[in-house]
Amino acid sequence: MGGIAIKGCGKGIPRYSLHNRDLEEFLDTSHDWIVSRTGIEERRVAAPDEDNVSLSLLACGQALERAGVEGRDVDLIVVATATPDRMVPSLACTLQRELGSRGPALDINAGCSGFIYALAIAFHLMRGGIATRALVVGTETLTRIVDWRDRSTCVIFGDGAGAALLAPCPEGEGIIAASLDALGEGDGLIRAEGGGARMMASLAGGLVPGNHLLPSPLPHLHRTWNGIDPFLRMDGKEVFKFAVNKLCATVKELCSAAGVGTEEVSLIIPHQANLRILAAAAERLGVPKESFFTNIQRYGNTSAASIPIALEEALRAGMIREGDLVILAGFGAGMTWGGALLRWQDGQAIEGGRTA
Ligand code: ACO
Repeated sequence: MGGIAIKGCGKGIPRYSLHNRDLEEFLDTSHDWIVSRTGIEERRVAAPDEDNVSLSLLACGQALERAGVEGRDVDLIVVATATPDRMVPSLACTLQRELGSRGPALDINAGCSGFIYALAIAFHLMRGGIATRALVVGTETLTRIVDWRDRSTCVIFGDGAGAALLAPCPEGEGIIAASLDALGEGDGLIRAEGGGARMMASLAGGLVPGNHLLPSPLPHLHRTWNGIDPFLRMDGKEVFKFAVNKLCATVKELCSAAGVGTEEVSLIIPHQANLRILAAAAERLGVPKESFFTNIQRYGNTSAASIPIALEEALRAGMIREGDLVILAGFGAGMTWGGALLRWQDGQAIEGGRTA
């Protein structure tokens, strides 16, 4: 049986950037607090004419082009998102229509671990002979579900999409180990009740503003429906501890499964949640903090989109070369976590970088 590799990556980034200084205008916060506690300087916010479909199509278009694959040659699409544009049908089916692809298409929700879950699902379906070329997408419009009056959450999240095209490669290259796990007891740590079937009425009542870009007037009225709070809420401290633990455990587990030492891994591309989480994980693993790729400074936490966007940027910066061992690792709502260890394969060209 052959292997499965990422042959091309792409990203779709909203046009509008909201800097910490913009948040100071309407929130009791400061640029210095946000940078010192999270590392975030700015985040992208989807404009009214942007959504997960448009951002994902940008990401998929780049991934396909860089892999030299046509949309019609894709026979599996797996989309990870916690903020789908609508409940039914799946975003994956809409992407399939737009790209002229075929085969199975599905959305999954595993919070910020979503891209890792989607990657593992596509990998195993391909290994099982169900598909030969897959698009794996992570996309979010989180700024539409945060409470812009809640400084403990709204400063953290941003919007965006990332995609990877998977295709066959020689055995022993590409994805060489993957791990997934979840702990349902933590389902209250990160949650958003709005938008589900229990809370549709609240959304119809106008919780999501026409122009959510502008903080004035404050975009969300504080409204609940049947006593349920619709916004994204998070127990930041608990999530922080969980994230450091699971990130370290995932890196160790993948290295042990592949029989390699952590020092042999060239680059770890983690979910971009907080620079302090990454610094703590690096210290605990005994690796330099430069082992972790970061771009949270510019995008904030884009949940399922953060790993593919970071991967695209690491590739474009020439930080990944043929034969490198690369770990992708995520953790998030659910609580969920997981990772993948890849031996990077050449021939995945990207402009401005060495491989993609
Ligand atoms: N600006 C200024 N002050 C703030 C802000 C803000 N934006 N937010 C909170 N504070 C205040 C608090 O009110 C508190 O004040 P007090 O001491 O007077 O009560 C003080 O700062 C400290 O608050 P903490 O919550 O203890 O701050 P902490 O250092 O824990 O940082 C943070 C909060 C950044 C959220 C951190 O806990 C974190 O990053 N957690 C992990 C989040 C994460 O990884 N999420 C990923 C998963 S998301 C998903 O899956 C969708």
